[in-house]
Amino acid sequence: MLVDSMAMSDVNTLVGGLTELHEHMREAGGLAALTRMAVAVYDGKTDLLRTFIHSSSTESPLNHYVARLSDVPSLADIARSGHPRVVNDLAMYNPGAIHSRRVVEGGFRSSYTVPLMQNGRLSGFLFFNSVEPGFFSPQVLHQLWPYAQIAAFIATMELERIQVIQAAVSTVRQISHQRDEETGAHLERMSRYTRMIAEGLAVSHQLEDEYIEYLFQFAPLHDVGKVAVPDSILLKPGRLDSEEFAVMKGHVDKGAHIIDLMTEDFGIGRVPHVGILRNVVSFHHEAWDGSGYPQGLKGEEIPLEARITSVADVFDALTSKRPYKEAWSNEQALDFLSQMSGVKFYPPCVDVMLNNQGLIKAIQSQFAESLFD
Ligand SMILES: [Fe+2]
Ligand SMILES: [Fe+2]
Repeated sequence: MLVDSMAMSDVNTLVGGLTELHEHMREAGGLAALTRMAVAVYDGKTDLLRTFIHSSSTESPLNHYVARLSDVPSLADIARSGHPRVVNDLAMYNPGAIHSRRVVEGGFRSSYTVPLMQNGRLSGFLFFNSVEPGFFSPQVLHQLWPYAQIAAFIATMELERIQVIQAAVSTVRQISHQRDEETGAHLERMSRYTRMIAEGLAVSHQLEDEYIEYLFQFAPLHDVGKVAVPDSILLKPGRLDSEEFAVMKGHVDKGAHIIDLMTEDFGIGRVPHVGILRNVVSFHHEAWDGSGYPQGLKGEEIPLEARITSVADVFDALTSKRPYKEAWSNEQALDFLSQMSGVKFYPPCVDVMLNNQGLIKAIQSQFAESLFD
């Protein structure tokens, strides 16, 4: 049984692969002054760009950095053209932009930026930085080129593997007539609340951007096991009797089983951080005081990713209209979370929700139900 939080695990991760490549480039490739490689991922639905992973000897200057692509014209240009860009003196380049300023403050003086494209669409950027101004000369670029191709390939492959899992699950869901509550809008909102909470905990809980991104990608799969619950129970408008509720609760173990099958049959076990996915699916109905199901885990026995997801999931369920209930207002739902903080929910997760009501509203208006009905 996998119950440890995956937050600190770095076995078989994208950052591991990139760090290895980076070391090789610095030693064998004669690129010693290449001090940082980093990947940012792009979410086309929200136009947001987020730092994902980096391999640098020092603290990344852009940890937990989020920006709207349209607010960063230099990167938007690269995305539009599809061509890499060299900046040989960052100190002189667009000093007004926050990300440039932070990179310069981090001691970097030149950069080489490569857009990552998947099926003609932007999926992120690959950044190379050096502490030397003018480092990315034509000779260095010539040397760097094959490595940049490999790094872009590794990053794109990993992003694609996550998408394959998501596509597989969404196909199964469509085939099995999953009930209304698992609309696209619910999944969009709950996964963004999940990410918001994880970002809010990032400093206090030392969460890497990589962990946060995987958690965001995996959160929509929390109820994959509902495909195995019969429609008569799944779609019942009234309250479930105790027998029906027992069947409903079974969606958690079914979900874990489905993830195990996917892991074995499709080689998804090689996806970095697949443990996060398994923990989200297996423990999103556990409660802080041990009153949850199926295991009745208590407090920190519950993996962090499941504590985060459950707050996000419950908040969205409360504030959504369902066949058997009206939507609660945000105030009512946040009141409930406060009352249940330290009872059902991990208090730091509730605190992030309470402190980000503006962001919650923005997510709700962007992913309103009607868009997906
Ligand atoms: Fe569930
Ligand atoms: Fe849900």
